[in-house]
Amino acid sequence: MVRFIVLVGLLALSFCVAMAADHSPLQDFCVAQSNSQVLLNGLACKNPSMVQVSDFSFSGLHIAGNTSNAVGSRVTLVSATQIPGLNTLGISLARIDYAPWGINPPHTHPRATEILTVIKGSLEVGFVTSNPDNRLISKILKKGDVFVFPIGLVHYQRNVGSGNAMAIVGLSSQNPGVITIANAVFGSKPDISTDILVKALQVDKNIISDTQVKF
Ligand SMILES: *[C@@H]1O[C@H](CO)[C@@H](O)[C@H](O)[C@H]1NC(C)=O
Repeated sequence: MVRFIVLVGLLALSFCVAMAADHSPLQDFCVAQSNSQVLLNGLACKNPSMVQVSDFSFSGLHIAGNTSNAVGSRVTLVSATQIPGLNTLGISLARIDYAPWGINPPHTHPRATEILTVIKGSLEVGFVTSNPDNRLISKILKKGDVFVFPIGLVHYQRNVGSGNAMAIVGLSSQNPGVITIANAVFGSKPDISTDILVKALQVDKNIISDTQVKF
């Protein structure tokens, strides 16, 4: 009987963990205290009586991001860093601008599912399922279309319209995190040994070292 209860308890616990994006808040809000020395999962709370309306707002998302860079896109993130009041609430937002043919390169969010809506232009979007299938699920979106990138999966967007494009995305974490595949694999500090990448990617050593230089 005791064993059964322990088993049920463990199952319930693992179910909770599997269900979780960010944890549910235990109070109305926990506005992040910017100068706190306390290290915890999330950010320490400000005294609720000191909370201001500005802790819950952000301005400037109408301004296009600067897309003059190698990939031709810019993500303007509004997370708990920009809005301290988002701390513990499990949600964030971003504006993404794309130059013509600009891409948001393959990346993953370790802590968030993403839902994207096209506000302007047309985007090719896609994500790849995990091993062993690695199936590409992709689509061309036009203004007003919505697409979901499930948590943890590698995904990308590309502007396939004639002018600039813009999307707004919601993310299921106050701090979704980003792992850009090329930067993580070729731009780690220090470098992953070239011979490891030669074997992993099955290409010539020079291709690896040239790519590492770029990142
Ligand atoms: C956009 O970024 C480029 C490259 O960093 C820079 O040269 C340019 O001045 C920026 N444009 C604006 C409007 O900030």
